[in-house]
Amino acid sequence: MILVTGGAGFIGSNFVLEWLAQSEEPVLNLDKLTYAGNLQNLAALEGDSRHVFVQGDIGDGKLVSSLLAQHKPRAIVHFAAESHVDRSIHGPGEFIQTNIVGTFQLLEAARAYWDALPETEKADFRFLHVSTDEVYGSLEESDPAFKETNRYEPNSPYSASKAASDHLVRAYHHTYGLPVLTTNCSNNYGPFHFPEKLIPLVIHNALAGKPLPIYGDGQQIRDWLYVKDHCSGIRRVLEGGRLGETYNIGGWNEKANLDVVKTLCATLDELQPRQDGKSYAEQITFVKDRPGHDRRYAIDATKLEKELGWKPSETFETGIRKTVQWYLDNQKWTQDVVSGNYRDWVQRQYAA
Ligand code: NAD
Ligand code: DAU
Repeated sequence: MILVTGGAGFIGSNFVLEWLAQSEEPVLNLDKLTYAGNLQNLAALEGDSRHVFVQGDIGDGKLVSSLLAQHKPRAIVHFAAESHVDRSIHGPGEFIQTNIVGTFQLLEAARAYWDALPETEKADFRFLHVSTDEVYGSLEESDPAFKETNRYEPNSPYSASKAASDHLVRAYHHTYGLPVLTTNCSNNYGPFHFPEKLIPLVIHNALAGKPLPIYGDGQQIRDWLYVKDHCSGIRRVLEGGRLGETYNIGGWNEKANLDVVKTLCATLDELQPRQDGKSYAEQITFVKDRPGHDRRYAIDATKLEKELGWKPSETFETGIRKTVQWYLDNQKWTQDVVSGNYRDWVQRQYAA
């Protein structure tokens, strides 16, 4: 069994679904179900005994220790975090609590559990920490892409909290020998992406006839990776990564925000044209910039490709098309999130 934290969120739920599609090894899924956690993402696993869901906080050391003792996982894959930059600007407290203190509590419980394992199991245990390219800060137009050796220069409360958690994970390896791995990935997109983030927000607003908000001049660059490719990268690192190492994950897909939004509009124009025959691009609206907005991220994933033979399977063009089609086919999923119905579903689920 493996323990996945944050497995009801965007990437975590994709990871759990992919894992159980490819393996019989069960997953213990620990998620607090904050606003970003959505059990509807995992509806396909209802009645599947390989998926054990526990609602709880990674910062609850007692709970985590008892789960480890009871289920004896051979690995922890740690996704749980507060993940939205704009929320971290409005209220950094939760980011410090979950991303830093929560990761510390999880590491403490993992260390005690790992320490007590028999020698053979000790050698095989893994703690894989899922992190972000944002810890490296912002690039100028002519800078090379981020390598694992780049200096940490986080600029938002979110990225600073992720940077702190990366440092804690590193320290637990160097000080205590905990067998850790860290991955730093670029921007993900795909199914089950919470519609507060750029791509799902734009698809939702376009279909709802609302403005498509572009921060500042829209020339900020992000490096986009289809979520299932992120998941396959994590699985590769878990299988073959060298202990204590960090691996960048990215798809070499740098795009300016305005171009991403225009691509989404063009894809929607083709797949579900507006009734008035005009383009969704007419809804593009420039709004106030994000404070401290990082200008450019770009990931150099050479280490993962060379050492572990990983390659993404989607290009930006194929991944975006799949994604737009998924949101068109699953409009109820987005409606339930936007209306808050997904919370009622959680209550119904737990009422029994
Ligand atoms: P998300 O916000 O969609 O999901 C986070 C999940 O963690 C939710 O299900 C939430 O309920 C859970 N959670 C939050 N606090 C918790 C706590 N204290 N205890 C237990 N569970 C808790 O996030 P995401 O986009 O899926 O990101 C997952 C991870 O990947 C994060 O660590 C993030 O930093 C990292 N990451 C994200 C991206 C991206 O583009 N989204 C890119 C690189 C790295
Ligand atoms: O780089 C990896 C990171 O990508 C992850 O670590 C974060 O968890 C994840 O949320 C994401 O952060 P970003 O800030 O890059 O993602 P977001 O979707 O919020 O924004 C993408 C870009 O689009 C960014 O430059 C801000 C801009 N934007 C965003 C929104 C929500 C807009 O122009 N308008 C918007 O309405």
